[in-house]
Amino acid sequence: SQKTYILGIESSCDDTAAAVLCNEQVLSNVVATQKVHEQYGGVVPELASRAHQQNIVPVIHQALKNANIKKEQLSAIAFTRGPGLMGSLLVGTSFAKSMAMALNIPLIEVNHMQAHLLAHFIKENTTTAVPSFPFLGFTISGGHTQIVKVSDYFTMEVLGETLDDAIGEAYDKCGKMLNLNYPAGAEIDKYAQMGNPHAFKFPIPNVKELNFSFSGLKTAMLYFLQRETKNNPDFIQENLMDICASFQHTIIEIVIKKLKKAVKQTHVKQIAIGGGVSANSGIRNALKDAEQKWDWKCFIPKFEYTTDNAAMIGIAGYYKFLQKDFTQNTITANARYAI
Ligand code: KG4
Ligand code: ZN
Repeated sequence: SQKTYILGIESSCDDTAAAVLCNEQVLSNVVATQKVHEQYGGVVPELASRAHQQNIVPVIHQALKNANIKKEQLSAIAFTRGPGLMGSLLVGTSFAKSMAMALNIPLIEVNHMQAHLLAHFIKENTTTAVPSFPFLGFTISGGHTQIVKVSDYFTMEVLGETLDDAIGEAYDKCGKMLNLNYPAGAEIDKYAQMGNPHAFKFPIPNVKELNFSFSGLKTAMLYFLQRETKNNPDFIQENLMDICASFQHTIIEIVIKKLKKAVKQTHVKQIAIGGGVSANSGIRNALKDAEQKWDWKCFIPKFEYTTDNAAMIGIAGYYKFLQKDFTQNTITANARYAI
């Protein structure tokens, strides 16, 4: 059968990534994670853009090398057009445009949020189950919190999203208040598993329809810690596990409440999760329970395809390639690119 080699390029936030796919299989998947942001406790856009400029050539070079592919063998180049940070997107977009032009091969623009969901179709050697259409996509990371109805590869409808902070942002900002290193999600998750989820109570926000809000939880945590540390300066150290467990319990309640509502509204019981927060043990366990209790079917891709990566851009590019859905070289990045 026909072999299509797609180079995927991702640079929407703070990871510079490149991957080579042969049809639906990943030949290489390279990510340069920018360390420079850690000291600031969040992504600094200007620094991200500069780091992308430094990383993009070596990362693409490495992806081609790991795939054992010469650039002349590529069938097309797929890149993230948006959404994301404009300065970051520009690096990948301009590079993809120049490279496609130099090689005289098609250019394919990809929506980052669609790509997170299409990552579920990456073929592994093992016989992993993939969702069938329609399914609900749930993308949860440091930058996204979105429920999407996926009716076909590129027929997607946003059913709800966060009105303020992303779910991972809530983890990272609360982690900062707890004196944990950025990004704090994995560490909070670790402590949460050792604590009492009912030790403290945080409010579940009342948000309309399938939308989310996490800024209230962040503020509640801030006031809670201010109040408690006034009486006991060692409150955080002494109660870290219980605080993390109670915080995580609240997050899980919010997530399950909204997913239940989405299932009820759409009658779709397949849920495909994407984004770095999908690593969360509490959310994973809650989803396993939901499979038992309510007959849901949940899909979580391999970790390397769920955090920001270029393999997902490659698979999205492959499906567009099959449809001959190519992009003009006059294309520009779109920081607010909607699904
Ligand atoms: O997808 P990702 O690598 O990058 C983007 O934000 O786009 O996601 C990173 C986010 C961070 O906010 C991090 O704290 C969170 O995912 N995270 C977790 C866990 N592992 C990573 N949050 C909760 N529990 C985890 N186990
Ligand atoms: Zn992402």
